[in-house]
Amino acid sequence: MCGILGYTGERQASDILLAGLARLEYRGYDSAGIAVLSNNTVKVAKNKGRLRVLEEKLKAGQDISGTCGIGHTRWATHGEPSDINAHPLWSDDMSVVAVHNGIVENYREIKNMLANHGYAFYSQTDTEAAVKLIDFYYKQEKSPLRAITQAIKVIEGSYCFVMLFKDYPGEVWGVRKDNPLIAGQGKGESFLASDVSAILHDTRQVYYLDNMDIVQLKKGVVRFFDTEGYAKHKELSEVTWDAQAAEKGGFEHFMMKEIHEQARAVRDTFGSVFHSGKIDLSDSGLTDDAMKNISQIYIIACGSAYHVGAAAQYIIEDLAKIPVRVELASEFRYRNMPLSRDSLAVIISQSGETADTLAAMRLAKQNGIKTLAIVNVVGSTIAREADNVFYTMAGPEIAVATTKAYSAQLIACYVLAMELARVKGTITPTYYENLIGEIQSLPEKIDEILDEKERLSEIAAKFVNARNAFYLGRNIDYAVAMEGSLKMKEISYLHSEAIAAGEMKHGPISLIERGMLVAGIMTQKNLSLKIASNMVEAKSRGGFILVVAMRGCETLKEESDFTFYVPETDEHFAASLAVIPLQLMGYYVAVARKLDVDKPRNLAKSVTVE
Ligand code: G6P
Repeated sequence: MCGILGYTGERQASDILLAGLARLEYRGYDSAGIAVLSNNTVKVAKNKGRLRVLEEKLKAGQDISGTCGIGHTRWATHGEPSDINAHPLWSDDMSVVAVHNGIVENYREIKNMLANHGYAFYSQTDTEAAVKLIDFYYKQEKSPLRAITQAIKVIEGSYCFVMLFKDYPGEVWGVRKDNPLIAGQGKGESFLASDVSAILHDTRQVYYLDNMDIVQLKKGVVRFFDTEGYAKHKELSEVTWDAQAAEKGGFEHFMMKEIHEQARAVRDTFGSVFHSGKIDLSDSGLTDDAMKNISQIYIIACGSAYHVGAAAQYIIEDLAKIPVRVELASEFRYRNMPLSRDSLAVIISQSGETADTLAAMRLAKQNGIKTLAIVNVVGSTIAREADNVFYTMAGPEIAVATTKAYSAQLIACYVLAMELARVKGTITPTYYENLIGEIQSLPEKIDEILDEKERLSEIAAKFVNARNAFYLGRNIDYAVAMEGSLKMKEISYLHSEAIAAGEMKHGPISLIERGMLVAGIMTQKNLSLKIASNMVEAKSRGGFILVVAMRGCETLKEESDFTFYVPETDEHFAASLAVIPLQLMGYYVAVARKLDVDKPRNLAKSVTVE
């Protein structure tokens, strides 16, 4: 969602801010803006639409020179996307100019209070209320730090503010609550960013801000304060992953590049816990003793991470015989579920910042439930607040539609299921060893599927004008169908539904029309006949039958219009292979429709508001 940047140093701030914001484009946005402070004057350039519109405006001569500034890409929540509502927003005399991620929940009350003190408002945003509140205290206190500490006592909701104060040249201020903010330390310069990838080209030395930390940047100096305004020490961390990993590397889109990185992501994720021939989860805090006592598992996540949980549910229950509930974080957080104390909450999130997932995790913790976060982004809020963390090794994922992070999350869940099964004694040592071998063979099999990708590109062209699609599956194949269907709808805008195949006759079948894409996933031998009948029913009503099956399953060979075989593997791990052709289908239909694959409309990579 919204991207945030701050810079102070020797270089032109506008160059740094535009380059950094370009690296945050993948998060999804509808307007962009920057502000630069120079000679006690703040100049702002902002507009609705893409960053390149802003760049063109600046090239056309709008003067925004100076070496201290802030920038923002906005994903509208309060107020439509427009030039006025774009950030930065300012107080009337430009004393305070700020960008904001998150939502100020009590902005109406703040506006009313300020209106009584003569303030007027020009935008429809919640942010303007907060900026003017900071200005209100700044006018009394004459100090940015005291203005911020006063304002955050009043502001409710989630936020990350990055601010310039006209009378404090060379300084950028920031504060965060439930929205990510990172400070970067360079030589003679310093940075703030909502996402470390935005500043990695400039520095690898970063501080991860905790909730309610206040930060002050001066050239090459980063200082922290608590909510009472007292100085606070924080540890500097070094980011070790490669900035190159965030470039397209010869592929037309990040999504295709990331699809091709899945074998590596799977190998690295397994490699991170497999040492000297043994799986070792002790870094994630899961000792054998801790695992022995787990009698219930809740898997909590959103979007594709939820689909990983849906697959994991079947696998853990089957291998380890522990009951699992998989919950959408946005639902879990607002229900009063009786939670048993000897349970484990597994929180899955690529970004580690999804607002609902974070809130659900906090709720689980408040209820005394141990939490294990499966997270990709190191130092993210969920990773820092969870009791234990299992980092997936997907590397930075840029395309909004997740692929490699999804695949890496599956591996983490396989490992968890196997370890629980080993500790509980529900699988034999020989089968456990076989499963290790199967996981190790997945990367090669993923690459084998990718070698055949052109076949899918041809078939996808058929659906360039399609309006609806169904994805059917049962058991793990249903979880894969959910992910395949999401991939199709999120990037190609083709309406698509995943259906637990047994439910077809309870309604969805009435929607089948001639030529409609009906994809069936068939990797679970004992269910292949069942799903075959559902597919034949769809075919006899005119559906175009596309089957993704495990090699050796010939059940629908005659009836299907197109079959894609994936290599054989243990059925528990079939999602890792069956999902690849479905990711490719979504990708190729989107490309055939000439859509912006990496930045689909209205979607954001990291959903930091609920
Ligand atoms: C957004 C992304 C999805 C992702 C979901 C959950 O909707 O577009 O790709 O699955 O958020 O995000 P998380 O970072 O928590 O995995």
